[in-house]
Amino acid sequence: MIEHPSPETCDVLIIGGGAAGLTLALRLAGHARVTILSKSSLKLGSTYYAQGGIAAVLDSDDSEQSHVEDTLVAGAGLCHRDVVEFTVGMAGECIAWLVDQGVQFSTNQENPHSTVVGNYHLTQEGGHSHRRVIHAADATGKAVFETLASRVLQHPNINFITNSVAVDLLTATKLGRSGNNACLGAYVLQEDTGKVITVAARFTVLATGGASKVYLYTSNPDGACGDGIAMAWRAGCRVANMEFNQFHPTCLFHARDRTFLISEALRGEGAVLRLPDGSRFMPSYHELAELAPRDIVARAIDAEMKKTGCDCVFLDISHKPADFIKEHFPTIHARCLSLGIDICKEPIPVVPAAHYSCGGVMVDRSGKTDLDNLYAIGETSFTGLHGANRMASNSLLECFVFAFSASQHILARLAATPMPTALPLWDESQVTDSDEDIVIAHNWDEIRRFMWDYVGIVRTTKRLHRAQHRIELLRSEIHEYYSNYRISTPLLELRNLALVAELIINSALSRRESRGLHYCLDFPHRADSAVDTVLAPLNASQS
Ligand code: FAD
Ligand code: SIN
Repeated sequence: MIEHPSPETCDVLIIGGGAAGLTLALRLAGHARVTILSKSSLKLGSTYYAQGGIAAVLDSDDSEQSHVEDTLVAGAGLCHRDVVEFTVGMAGECIAWLVDQGVQFSTNQENPHSTVVGNYHLTQEGGHSHRRVIHAADATGKAVFETLASRVLQHPNINFITNSVAVDLLTATKLGRSGNNACLGAYVLQEDTGKVITVAARFTVLATGGASKVYLYTSNPDGACGDGIAMAWRAGCRVANMEFNQFHPTCLFHARDRTFLISEALRGEGAVLRLPDGSRFMPSYHELAELAPRDIVARAIDAEMKKTGCDCVFLDISHKPADFIKEHFPTIHARCLSLGIDICKEPIPVVPAAHYSCGGVMVDRSGKTDLDNLYAIGETSFTGLHGANRMASNSLLECFVFAFSASQHILARLAATPMPTALPLWDESQVTDSDEDIVIAHNWDEIRRFMWDYVGIVRTTKRLHRAQHRIELLRSEIHEYYSNYRISTPLLELRNLALVAELIINSALSRRESRGLHYCLDFPHRADSAVDTVLAPLNASQS
């Protein structure tokens, strides 16, 4: 790790070291002093675990128009077409940049037919009408993360600080300063010392990832608590479409591993879903069968599990040659084998699990939020790209595209933006050490369980009201706890998780239709017009 002379001031503070944060840091570092924070270990974000790949039009038989149309269809009428076109149009440049950084994507041995950036293998995933997902076998996120992180760690202008948790944003309004409200930096808990430092920055960027940890079963690592969404909300920013939490259809169902993902790329390469009796069911739900958009596949599995009472369904790729399986899916093959499942010979037990937050902090095309000098990029943001259901492999793409555009916007304003001064220190004079940490663990479990039971794949108004009632009680209990006791990472995460759960529940209650990932039995039809759910900190509204 490179020591920085003064971690308390920087030109740009990036909170989060996943695909979005690392890319932005590298794009800025030639011209600005950058500090990146990440919670606990470097691998706590989702990026490291991404499997399938990155969607991009790289084959001359494919077209941007087709990528745009597929995204709009998967998004169930709620994507912002201009943002989809912008993102799809930037994909080639982002992939070329990643290749240039040194990311080793899988090459095309079966069909030596070059893509526009080289001889790469493109895989297929749900919703895509062409092979257009560039990947590094089944561990794309690891390849991207390790390449970008090693560059970041070597860069003299970037200070990458791990074990650091942003607590809250400092804003002009919170400090009682006159003029436009603007972000001035953040309070940051240093996990090894327990001390909270004040970081002043000309620009602050939330790159904190998603919030799927709000559900009991999730493919996400432990850090995905929606911290950025919660911090932005408390700082006065609007959030949008929080009800659209994506459930990935195929997470491993095994007593020793409930978070391991079985990539959609298996279905792209021919795997089929079966009931315990061996019969297929997806063809009766959608003409694209296993390659239908994710919301449809997850709901079909949920319906079959409820109908037949089975604990899981099975994903079967055993009809493909063993060499093909091991070459394309080495990570999944090895992990399943370590649990006694040989995917070359037998089907894999799978269930849906919370996977991706389509909603988030509202931003414009440069990643700029409602607050001056505050940006949000990656999964924590709401750009309008995903609509009511994200299409596979469009998420990493969004991280790169918006890191590129945010860097341009920030650099154009860097010289004219002064460094904030005279920021107050964190005040601990009114708090004591907690003697009841069990409350934190209990509330964590309670939230995640009722979110799974009441705000899951299929919803009803009655269950949403039940969840709303519980979250109100829990939030007031957590607020009291936060006000009286010294902070810790679990307490900060619980506080953020509870707020995000409330935003999800309130957004779900305000949508009186079923669309994409939000399916409510009381409003089973899709409304004629597609409207985003926008919540503002002082009063919730639709726009
Ligand atoms: P993350 O990679 O989640 O990183 C968040 C960072 O923020 C971490 O460094 C974390 O420590 C830090 N952080 C969070 N809160 C704080 C705080 N308060 N203070 C300091 N730091 C903080 N998408 C695709 O497009 N293709 C795929 O193949 C794919 N596969 C996936 C497989 C899995 C198992 C999962 C879980 C997701 C997958 N996704 C995929 C989704 C995609 O990986 C994520 O959406 C994307 O990686 C998010 O990147 P990010 O930079 O926004 O956040
Ligand atoms: C997967 O590999 O199935 C995940 C892809 C994604 O979430 O985009």
